[in-house]
Amino acid sequence: MTISFDNRVAIVTGAGGGLGRAYALELARRGAKVVVNDLGGARDGTGHSDAALAVVQEIETAGGEAFSNGGSVTEYDQMVAMVEAAKARWGRIDILINNAGVLRDRSFAKMEPEDFRFVVDVHLNGSANCTKAVWDTMRDQNYGRILMTASSTGLFGNFGQANYGAAKLGLAGLAKTLHLEGAKYGIKVNTIAPVAGTRMTEDIFPEAAFKAFAPEKVAPAALFLVSEDAPTNMIIGAGAGVVQAAYVTLTPGARLAELTPESVAVQWNEIIDRKGEIVPNSGAEQTMSIMSQLQ
Ligand code: NAI
Repeated sequence: MTISFDNRVAIVTGAGGGLGRAYALELARRGAKVVVNDLGGARDGTGHSDAALAVVQEIETAGGEAFSNGGSVTEYDQMVAMVEAAKARWGRIDILINNAGVLRDRSFAKMEPEDFRFVVDVHLNGSANCTKAVWDTMRDQNYGRILMTASSTGLFGNFGQANYGAAKLGLAGLAKTLHLEGAKYGIKVNTIAPVAGTRMTEDIFPEAAFKAFAPEKVAPAALFLVSEDAPTNMIIGAGAGVVQAAYVTLTPGARLAELTPESVAVQWNEIIDRKGEIVPNSGAEQTMSIMSQLQ
């Protein structure tokens, strides 16, 4: 079995370096035409450069097709213009990898509201902007593959990353609704939580681990998640060639003996018991699970 991206058009945001670059290169190597988006700023989102252009040159040197876009994912109009340019050139948009991101780490006690707002804006609103910009096209085509980029911080927490974690779990939440709304139009939406040695993690990883966690080792999972036979509504962890699945689950819980907080305390162990837990496919399944306890 070979996974090909021949005749597919892909947009990868934040693809001027790190993970996005690895995704763009591998998509192009497997036949996709790629829009390489990157503002080219510093890790904290300040400044800009033509980082995207260098990746386009790498793709072209290897015989692939790509063009660069220096727009910011935070600017909806710029993302619409990017999508229009790709459609004018290649006629369709099959794949969107929402990958652009920034960091402004500080403990919550020291974090300025502006640094919270900015990080949420780039990751969460930025991904919503790009997704909205391709959504109607994918619906009209009856085909689309969208990948959100979450993080272990969003799923499980990390000291000093309240802004980043809020945005990242928000992205998993966005995917969970979009996969429902996109299903009848052939749009599949998944979330990846990567672990990679990039400039985002260069001061966290020791040198040997940095190499072992090369971005190229995340690319196979990302590419599978935007391929023709991709699943939908999955949250997939990937790093150093290991691929995992993360789930949001619901325990059967307990029907309260009395409608009092004391009853919650008394029945606590039953409430949190994971035996028989489910992975709901939509919010409605929580209501259904409650109803089934009442019968
Ligand atoms: P990176 O810093 O190399 O890549 C992020 C890219 O996004 C940069 O090239 C940057 O210029 C671009 N960017 C930032 N703001 C932008 C904007 N407004 N518009 C367009 N582009 C913009 O870091 P890395 O590690 O490759 O990160 C890629 C994604 O993976 C990010 O969403 C990050 O949060 C996520 N991630 C990375 C992890 C890791 O271990 N490296 C762990 C978990 C998540």
